[in-house]
Amino acid sequence: MNKNRITLPILQKKKENGEKIAVLTAYDFPFAKLADEAGMDIILVGDTLGIVVQGKENTLPVTMDQMVYHTQMVSRGVKRALVLADMPFMSYQSSREDALKNAGRLIKEGGAAAVKFEGGASVVDRVEALTKYDIPVMAHIGLTPQSVHRMGGYKVQGRDSKQAQQLIKDAKQLESAGAFSIVLEGIPNALAQSITAAIRIPTIGIGAGPHCDGQVLVMHDLLGLFTQFRPKFVRRYADFTASASEAFSRYRSDVQNGKFPTEAEGYE
Ligand code: KIV
Repeated sequence: MNKNRITLPILQKKKENGEKIAVLTAYDFPFAKLADEAGMDIILVGDTLGIVVQGKENTLPVTMDQMVYHTQMVSRGVKRALVLADMPFMSYQSSREDALKNAGRLIKEGGAAAVKFEGGASVVDRVEALTKYDIPVMAHIGLTPQSVHRMGGYKVQGRDSKQAQQLIKDAKQLESAGAFSIVLEGIPNALAQSITAAIRIPTIGIGAGPHCDGQVLVMHDLLGLFTQFRPKFVRRYADFTASASEAFSRYRSDVQNGKFPTEAEGYE
């Protein structure tokens, strides 16, 4: 193992030392390599690939084979960050055995070091089953995109006090079950702060304000490559849509006007 590799004990230390954890999604080799070289702590092969790569409406159709395929590409590009793979819809809900078998594929075939799946109390036994066999689990609560139909859309969760109390309880149970970290998605800033203070493992926020132990963004949002919708919490650090579109137009125009290729761009 690369001696600079980010490991679970390093992530835990970061929480204890108050150092923020930077997490970014990636779905293929070149972008995973760039994210790793930029010093990301965790690279998440998110099931958001269903939306930002496959162009689907939500994450539900993503399959285990697709997750394994994308995790393999990402793993090949990453030398330092911890590679974390999402468990897609219905790969862990059906039974503990399925959860174990499918998580095992992401580690064994995909090269991930850890897996992530969504849910609170209902998946506590899945977390126990996987951690028992040393498969590290990041949990994911709050706005859980695989529950899009129950939630009636991508809506902020935990605004009423009953739901907020339940989320705090879920986080504590997931920690006790062995999760090494928890994603807090789409919840009020103050609730994310309370959960972060209530548990010893790191929280990773997305749409959960500035008080989590780390943050995650979807790469295509950060790069301005996904433009269909833009949640309030997304900060765009680049406009890849404009750059790519300009480059494609210039190329097309050069080809159509006989300006590309030149003699010099061919072989003698
Ligand atoms: O699938 C994903 O990219 C995620 C992040 C949004 C946390 O789960």
